[in-house]
Amino acid sequence: MSSNPIASVRCADPCSLVIFGASGDLTHRLLIPALYNLAAAGLLDDAFSIIGVARKETSSDAFRSSLEKSLREFATRPVDDRIAKRLFACVEYLPGEFEDPKIYERLRQTLERVERTRATRGNRLFYLATPPAAFAPIGLQLGKSGLAREENGAWRRVIIEKPFGRDLASALTLNRQLLSVLDENQIYRIDHYLGKETVQNILVLRFANGLFEPIWNRDHIDHVQITVAESLTVGRRGRFYDSTGALRDMVPNHLFQLLSLVAMEPPARFDAGAVRAAKAELLDAVQIHDAAAALSNSVRAQYEAGSIGDNRVESYRKTEDVDPASTTETYVALKLLIDNWRWAGVPFYLRTGKSLRSQLTEVGINFKRAPFAMFRNTPVDRLTRNFLVLGIQPNECISLQFNAKLPGPSIAITGVGMTFEYKDYFKAAPSTGYETLIYDCMIGDATLFQRADGIEAGWRVVQPCIDAWRNAGATDLASYKAGSEGPTEADQLLARDGRHWRPIPG
Ligand code: BG6
Repeated sequence: MSSNPIASVRCADPCSLVIFGASGDLTHRLLIPALYNLAAAGLLDDAFSIIGVARKETSSDAFRSSLEKSLREFATRPVDDRIAKRLFACVEYLPGEFEDPKIYERLRQTLERVERTRATRGNRLFYLATPPAAFAPIGLQLGKSGLAREENGAWRRVIIEKPFGRDLASALTLNRQLLSVLDENQIYRIDHYLGKETVQNILVLRFANGLFEPIWNRDHIDHVQITVAESLTVGRRGRFYDSTGALRDMVPNHLFQLLSLVAMEPPARFDAGAVRAAKAELLDAVQIHDAAAALSNSVRAQYEAGSIGDNRVESYRKTEDVDPASTTETYVALKLLIDNWRWAGVPFYLRTGKSLRSQLTEVGINFKRAPFAMFRNTPVDRLTRNFLVLGIQPNECISLQFNAKLPGPSIAITGVGMTFEYKDYFKAAPSTGYETLIYDCMIGDATLFQRADGIEAGWRVVQPCIDAWRNAGATDLASYKAGSEGPTEADQLLARDGRHWRPIPG
């Protein structure tokens, strides 16, 4: 974030960007518009080339045309033809199977040719925008072929998409495989939540203000709620989703990024080593449940038919490519405790789900209520609870809720809010969220990427749920109506502690 492209003047290093999975959705919908935004902000070096690798048989010219077409369709700002021309000045495409060593030999020849003509100084950024099964084969081939070996001052970096593993064992294996051929500092494990301005701002809010940190602990905070609610259905991702589920898809990655930024100790420096160590240490302090505690502190549910706004939604089990008897969860809620001096006894409630009433990503920090109310007409338990809300999306805001006196002759108290909206202060150009991350990788700043220990610590926390749910089968799988706020069982998870979820607005 130190390297926010909008604020920074430094141009990214010259390089070749090799995209594996170049014919896919991610490349076309997000990566190309993000690269365009970097080019438009003057942050992409002219010595730049794109080399696409994918199974699909096509030519470099056809690939370039498809990128140009996608840019017009998905750009987040008006496209200037001169900038687009510069961005696509050097585009190559190689069809082939990711396991096939021959493709890496052809890739070497292409890279060496491009490096002679484009003055990219031999820097290579390999972006694995593929299904997860291809991460290890590509990583290993990049290592074995020597394509990712750093030499003569040139850097070689690999961006790996999520999901990184599907449980603790597979994440450990994938890390081991990648680290057998690459150095940790060459591996950039991406989580697009860290590309969001509002997520990065959690660190600034906490550590650039003297106001919050003194009360950011168990003495003042009652509990924390982290919500990532989506109104999107599983749509056409049935095959991927049915073998993944809400827990694996969202929790050890996106929700745990929010959790660790909100709860970590202040790092000594703002650099990749210190920030990532503080985050990993926080995840390491999350209490690991046994099987019984995993079941009693979690809720999983699947959506039934319902309506979201005016749209009728079929039940999850009727989704294309989903098993009609599926027990995959589309909603998960968890109660976690953190075993350290700052947080002992403060529950962190996390929830995420598909096909909910509306989209809402926020962190709600609930402060302890006033110990005693001297106001006769409003007993202490009727006072509004003080919430500091970090709105991530769709409303990008920070909001503080507190009690105020209703105007009038008697003392009557009501809850009010004070809100800072990003859009009122900043005129940031719309972005995909990938700009900062790609740029940071090109300048070698890994602060906003995940380190092996952080990923493994995240899986360690959710593994007891994965195991307990597998053993329980369908027995405790709850359900909720599409368009609702989630299952009643999730409400009970908080109600038994005398708390309730913040509403998901309609
Ligand atoms: C992806 C998940 O990583 O994140 C999707 O695979 C989910 O299922 C998406 O919809 C949510 O991202 P965002 O940025 O829309 O909150």
